[in-house]
Amino acid sequence: MDFIIHEYIKIIENYLRGIFADDGQTNLVSAMNYSLLAGGKRIRPMLTLMCCEALGINKEYALPLAAAVEMVHTYSLIHDDLPAMDNDELRRGVPTCHKQFDEATAILAGDGLLTYAFEHISKSYLSDNQKVKAISALSGAAGPKGMILGQVLDMNLSPKTEYDILNMYKSKTGELLNAAAALGAIAADGDGNEFLEYSSCIGTAFQIKDDILDIEGSEEKLGKPVGSDDKNKKNTIVNFIGIDRSKKLVDEYTKRAIEFSHSLGERGKLFVCLAEMLLLRNN
Ligand code: IPE
Ligand code: IPE
Ligand code: MG
Ligand code: MG
Ligand code: MG
Repeated sequence: MDFIIHEYIKIIENYLRGIFADDGQTNLVSAMNYSLLAGGKRIRPMLTLMCCEALGINKEYALPLAAAVEMVHTYSLIHDDLPAMDNDELRRGVPTCHKQFDEATAILAGDGLLTYAFEHISKSYLSDNQKVKAISALSGAAGPKGMILGQVLDMNLSPKTEYDILNMYKSKTGELLNAAAALGAIAADGDGNEFLEYSSCIGTAFQIKDDILDIEGSEEKLGKPVGSDDKNKKNTIVNFIGIDRSKKLVDEYTKRAIEFSHSLGERGKLFVCLAEMLLLRNN
């Protein structure tokens, strides 16, 4: 299965490299490409391609949507790292965008990636109906009722209970993973909800694991700082239920995602593989 994942990543990387290839070397283009092409696990675009293929359509058809969700995700990382937010200096193994360039450029590079994601969908070969559904799914997930709301809750340190924390994770991280899966389904003319159980389970598991890695991980492997949450006095699930129970929760959500994968038959094997990879990841 690993070589299949490798093949997906290769297709995604190739496609991403082409996005701004004809746009010259302005400071803005350099900054957008710097963050977009710095690596990263590419989980969201991978999920998009997987969901498209699982509904019987060639995964490459979903590439414009996969790239759009990765552009939105990369913008969210650039802004998340800014001094006014988490104030971090390392991302994807290289200095954060505002460190490599400057703060204004990083803000604008984030803005550029966010808006271009939608321009890219609108100019793609997808049908008008697919475009509208895709733009609606992605903007809803990224917007003030989705990821932005989650980031507001995270910044205000407002979650006070385990329930609040999990809700905050659903907004800041889960929604974009749900959108990634929905986009793949939309490319295959599905309704977008086919993989919601899977994406929401791995979404919650993913953020809990991120918080655990912020404590137990290594900066070298993660390519981003450890101890960022502690530095910023963030309320994470680990503060509420401890590290052992947090790990159990990651196991439980992963198990649920794997159970769902089994319902997909042969096509579910890659879904099992991705869920296990995310459970065991150290980056
Ligand atoms: C980091 O996402 C931000 C979170 C939602 C926890 P990833 O861990 O997917 O970051 P990259 O894309 O691999 O850099
Ligand atoms: C970020 O959560 C979620 C986003 C929407 C970017 P974190 O702040 O925990 O992500 P990292 O640890 O910086 O990647
Ligand atoms: Mg943050
Ligand atoms: Mg952060
Ligand atoms: Mg984190």
